[in-house]
Amino acid sequence: MIPLALLGCTGPGPTPATPVDTDTDTEVPSPTPTADTAAPAPEAPTLLSPAEALDLDPAPDVLHVSLVAAPHTWDGVDGYAYNNQVPGPTLRARVGDTLVVDLDNQLGMPTSIHWHGVDVPFAMDGAGWQVSPVGAGETFTYTFTLEQAGTFWYHPHFDTEHQVDLGLYGVLIVEDPAEPVVDSELVVVFDGPAEVAASEEDPTVDPTPTTWLVNGLREPAWRPNAGETVRVRMLNASNAGYVALDDVRVIARDRGLLGAPDAAVVLAPGDRAELEWAVDATPLAVDAVPWSLAGPTVNPAVPLFTVEPVGASEAPEPVAWPFSPAGPTADPGHTDLRYTFTGSAAAGWEINGQTWPAIAPDVVSLGSEIILEIRNPSPAHHPFHLHGMAFEVLSIDGVPPAQRLTEDTLDIGVQETVRLRIEADNPGDWMIHCHILPHAEDGMMTVFSVQ
Ligand code: C2O
Ligand code: CU
Repeated sequence: MIPLALLGCTGPGPTPATPVDTDTDTEVPSPTPTADTAAPAPEAPTLLSPAEALDLDPAPDVLHVSLVAAPHTWDGVDGYAYNNQVPGPTLRARVGDTLVVDLDNQLGMPTSIHWHGVDVPFAMDGAGWQVSPVGAGETFTYTFTLEQAGTFWYHPHFDTEHQVDLGLYGVLIVEDPAEPVVDSELVVVFDGPAEVAASEEDPTVDPTPTTWLVNGLREPAWRPNAGETVRVRMLNASNAGYVALDDVRVIARDRGLLGAPDAAVVLAPGDRAELEWAVDATPLAVDAVPWSLAGPTVNPAVPLFTVEPVGASEAPEPVAWPFSPAGPTADPGHTDLRYTFTGSAAAGWEINGQTWPAIAPDVVSLGSEIILEIRNPSPAHHPFHLHGMAFEVLSIDGVPPAQRLTEDTLDIGVQETVRLRIEADNPGDWMIHCHILPHAEDGMMTVFSVQ
C-alpha cells in the first residue's frame, strides 16, 4: 500500500486507503498485486453527477428550467421524481442570475418547492405559516435572484417527510466566477433507501438508514482521472441519517467557501459541504464514519462508494482557493430569543413546549440583529434549519468556532447549547425546524416572523 503521506487526498472514513479489487479489464494499476484468478465480480455502477437541467432561456443571466414532479419507480420502489430522475436535475447558475422554475405538479397530490439555503422572497419559499401548496395538476412558477454562491438544494415542503423520502430532491449550484475552475466537478447526493413508510406509521421505528444510496445507486464506483482535481459538492438529502467523513479537504459548507479548509465534516440531514479531491492512482473505499441520531457510534463504518482512478498520474498540487479567513463575531452576551428542543420519538417533538401546528410565531423586527440561544436537553441530535436567512454560529457550549461559520442548517448535539446571530433582513413568516423530517413532522417546527 502507498503510505498515507503520499496521498494528495485520502479517502474519507476510518480506513481511508483500503485498496479495493479492480476489474482486470480497466487496466487500473493497483498498489497491491491481486492474485485473484476467480471470475471478476460484476462491475459496480459508475458514480456520475446527476444530469443538469436544460436552460430554456438564451439570456446569459437567466436560468429558466422546467421541473415536472411525477410518480417514478426507482431503486425498486414506487416513488416520485423531478423530470424522471433521482436525484432531480442539478440547476447550475451564477451569482446574480435570475432563476425561473416552472413546476408542473403531476403527483396527484399537492406539493411545493422549497429552496433550501437560498435567501428568497417569502412568496417564493415554497413553505410557511398558513401558505397553500401547489395543487394536484396545477403549475407554479418560482422566480428570484441568486445572491449567494454555494451548493444549495430544493425539495418539497408539503408532506415533506413522505415526498422527499420517495425521491423529490435536487441540487442547486450557484457559482462565483471569481473562484478557480478545477478539472472537474462531482455532485454527490446521499440518501437512505425509501423506507420511511414504517416510521411514518410508527414514530418509534428508528428512521436512521443503515444503507446509503449515492446518487440513487448502491455502492457505485467513482472513476475519476488520476492527476485531476475534482470539486466534490455533497448533499445529505436523507430524512434522518448522518454522513460523517474524516481525512478529507473540506473547502465549503452551507454558504460557500470557508475561511480555511477543514479535515472532517459531519453532514446532518439538509447539510451540504464541498471537498477538494486531488485524485491519485490509488483505489479507495469511501466509508461513512458511524453516526446515529445520538451522535458518533461504535457501529461499523457504512460503505458509500469506491474510487477506481483511471490512469497512473500522481495527485495534483493543492488549489489556491480565495479563502477569506475571519474569526467569529464576538458574542454580545444578551439573548433575544430562546428555543428549547424537547421530546422523544414516543411522545413527539417540541420547540419551547409547542407542537406544530399549535404554535405561536416569534415576531422580530425587520433589520434587527437577533441573538438566538438553542438548548437541546432531548435524547437526539437535531439539525436546526432556518428559512429565508443564514445565521452565524457564535458559540457551541460556550466555545466560539475556530473560524467564522455561516450556516443555514446546524446540527445540535444532545445536551448542547448553541448561540447564533441572525440579521433579520428578509421579511416573512419563516419556518424554523429540525431537518430530521420525522421530527419536524411530529411537531418540531415553529415560525420566525420578521416584520
Ligand atoms: Cu430543507 Cu424547511 O427545509
Ligand atoms: Cu430533530
